[in-house]
Amino acid sequence: MKVFTSVKELQAALRKHKKKSIGFVPTMGALHAGHISLMKNSIKENDVTVCSIFVNPTQFNVKSDLKKYPRTLEADSEKLKKAGVDYLFAPSIKEIYPNGTKKTVKVNLKGLDKRMEGEFRPGHFEGVVQVVHRLLKIVNPDRIYMGQKDFQQFTIIGQMIKSLRMKVELVVVKIKRAKDGLALSSRNVRLTPAKRKWAPIIYKTLKKAKRIMRSKTVQEVEAIAMEELGKPRGYKPEYFTIVDGHSLLPIEDWSDSDYIIAATAVWAGKIRLIDNIILKQD
Ligand code: PAJ
Repeated sequence: MKVFTSVKELQAALRKHKKKSIGFVPTMGALHAGHISLMKNSIKENDVTVCSIFVNPTQFNVKSDLKKYPRTLEADSEKLKKAGVDYLFAPSIKEIYPNGTKKTVKVNLKGLDKRMEGEFRPGHFEGVVQVVHRLLKIVNPDRIYMGQKDFQQFTIIGQMIKSLRMKVELVVVKIKRAKDGLALSSRNVRLTPAKRKWAPIIYKTLKKAKRIMRSKTVQEVEAIAMEELGKPRGYKPEYFTIVDGHSLLPIEDWSDSDYIIAATAVWAGKIRLIDNIILKQD
C-alpha cells in the first residue's frame, strides 16, 4: 500500500491507472470492521481502491469533539494494508483547504440537511458536503463507498452528486454490527462499561419497530421506541423518527411511502450514538 499526504503526488500515481476503475472510501480514521467492510466492497468491485483518512474540521459543530477525535494513523494503516487497499491518502488541513475553510460549494440539498441530525448538529452536513466534494475532485473515482450507518449522510452525498451531475456512482454498504447488535462506531470505545452493556437496546428497539409496525400507527411506534430507549440509566433518546427514505420527511401513515426507514440518535451518558433500520422497501 502506498501512502500519500500530497494531492499532487496522489494524482500523479492515480494517473497511471487511467483505464482502470477506481473505488474510493472516505473516512476520518480510527478504523473498525465497519470501515473495513467498505474497503472490501470497493476492492471487490474496482481495480484500484483509495482510502482517505482526514479528520475534517469543518464538520464538527462542537470544537471539543474535533480535539477528542481519535487519531490512530499507524494502526489504521496496518488495517488497510491487511485489507488490500492500494492507496492511503492522509492529507493535512492545508492540503485539503489551501484557501481556507470557508464553504464555497453551493448545493441544493432540498432540505435533507435540516432534519434529524441536522436539527441537532447545525452546519455539520455543510462541512461533510464540502470535504466529500473536495475529495471527489482530487481522487476522481468511478465509485464512492459509504455506510448505511450514516443514512442521512449518504442521502445528502447522493443528492450532491445528482445536483452537480458528478460522474461517480454512490455505493451504500450495509451496517456492520457487534455480535450483540450495536452498530460499530469509533465512539463505542468511549462508552463506560455500564453504558456499553445497555447499548444493544438501540438495535433491539429498531427491530421491535419493524416487528410491531403492522399493528401500530407510525406515531405509536415512535412513542414506544422513545420510551424504550429512555429506560436504561443515563440513556436519553434525542429522536426516533420514521421517515421516507428518499426525502427524509416524516410520514403520517405506513401507506405514505414505499421506502420507509426509522432513524434514531441516543445519548448513552456523554456519548451520542446513531443507528437506523429499513422498515419497508419495494
Ligand atoms: P467516518 O465516521 O470515519 O465513516 C467513514 C465511513 O464509514 C462512512 O461512510 C460511514 O457511514 C461508514 N461506517 C461507519 N460505521 C460503519 C458501520 N458500522 N458499518 C458500515 N459502515 C460504517 O463519515 C465520515 O467518516 C465522514 O463524515 C466523512 C464521510 C469521511 C467526511 O468527512
